[in-house]
Amino acid sequence: MKRNVEIQTFNDSEITVPEGVTHNLFPTPVKLFELAEPALNAELGAFFTSHPCFSETDQAQMADVTTLMEYAEDVPALARLEQLFLAGLESYCRDIGWQGEFDLDMQMFPNVSPGGHYVPSHNHVSHISAVYYVHTEPSARPLLVSDESVSDYWRPDEGALILHDPRFNASLMGGWHQHAKVFPRPGVMIFFPSFLWHEVTPHQAKEPRLSVAANFSLTYRDVPTYERRHRFSC
Ligand SMILES: [Fe+2]
Repeated sequence: MKRNVEIQTFNDSEITVPEGVTHNLFPTPVKLFELAEPALNAELGAFFTSHPCFSETDQAQMADVTTLMEYAEDVPALARLEQLFLAGLESYCRDIGWQGEFDLDMQMFPNVSPGGHYVPSHNHVSHISAVYYVHTEPSARPLLVSDESVSDYWRPDEGALILHDPRFNASLMGGWHQHAKVFPRPGVMIFFPSFLWHEVTPHQAKEPRLSVAANFSLTYRDVPTYERRHRFSC
């Protein structure tokens, strides 16, 4: 077929593109607080190491179907920790732009981890999650390491909270995969989106590592009238 368009010639050596704009979309806000709460840590530490329920063999499996607040009458530090979590949540919500009146469902559950114990990769069924560290082994590593290469991902660091790249199917090969490691100290409180997959590597200390996790689910109170709320079961 005869072409009406004149055939162009292109000079490959002169190929350039204009200066583009890279938008780093979909950031994942992770917030760290470093609190000085030695008295709270001492009381919680004594509670975790003395109460028989934390030495039962299934305590790790059962931890997230309990609430620590049932012990708050006997352990006042739990009520203080709840208030610290709520203050941290307010700060975190301000950062991420969640504003308004909410009904809040909050659960606090224990993590009593003896030497060798690890927590497989998981995320949480809520909107926002937090962890407060009561007792950890001292670490020479920085509190947060977020610039490691992919090869460092495989190094078996002790007692690290590994935060995984939340981008679905982010590949371990190539430039997409990121990870971060937190080496927590007592008094550290971390907030992150509950969808963020994370795991905890084993430590080898004689004393158990102690922390308290919290899950927060927020429901807007000012639901528009066209969104009718139902009680539903199936
Ligand atoms: Fe977790």
